[in-house]
Amino acid sequence: MDRDILIALVRIVDIKDGLTGAHTARVALYSQALAEATGLKEAEVYRVMRAAALHDIGKIDIPDHILGKPGRLTDQEYAIIQQHAVWGYERLARMGEDDPVILSVVRSHHERVDGSGYPDGLAGPAIHPAALCFAVVDTFDAMTSIRPYRTDLGPDAAQRAIEELNQHAGTWYCPDAIEALTRLYRAGKLDWIMRHQNGADPEGASSPDPEAADDYAVLSESLAGGRSLPT
Ligand SMILES: [Fe+2]
Repeated sequence: MDRDILIALVRIVDIKDGLTGAHTARVALYSQALAEATGLKEAEVYRVMRAAALHDIGKIDIPDHILGKPGRLTDQEYAIIQQHAVWGYERLARMGEDDPVILSVVRSHHERVDGSGYPDGLAGPAIHPAALCFAVVDTFDAMTSIRPYRTDLGPDAAQRAIEELNQHAGTWYCPDAIEALTRLYRAGKLDWIMRHQNGADPEGASSPDPEAADDYAVLSESLAGGRSLPT
């Protein structure tokens, strides 16, 4: 997929989701760090990063009143939210995307090792390794980032996220991916991603973070292979 189209799709999802580009940039960069740490070759690293950028693309098809609902979702609304994995997969397939890494991450990033995830209830080796790794990255970012509903993380957010991921190693999450992420965290290799791309947008999508444009520039540059991670 053309990089400009990819970025445009990601922007639509971010606007709908009330997020800036920071979340997408961060998960792409965490994915890059994890992929490089596990020894993937450069071309594979970029496939993983593109998959990370596109992971929630199916949210384009979730009605705004459900995606942006402030309170508790009904069971029916939650079931519709869960459909974003399938709808994203189907949209990309319709657009001609045929990279199994990208398609698997988009469809299976909410699956769990023990089969308790969605949308297909896949378990263990039936889940593509890229999707298993991305689930760890996505959860880590969700627990360590500022969101419209959470502007104060506290000093231990990353440590707590690592502990919680490790508590679910082997049941929900891939133990190897958690081990690799934990090693990167303890070596301080994730700090700059957490710090520099963790912008808040307290007013929601109607008042975009002025730094958001930079987030897309970071993402675009990264996906072009023009940015390497600090060592
Ligand atoms: Fe998702």
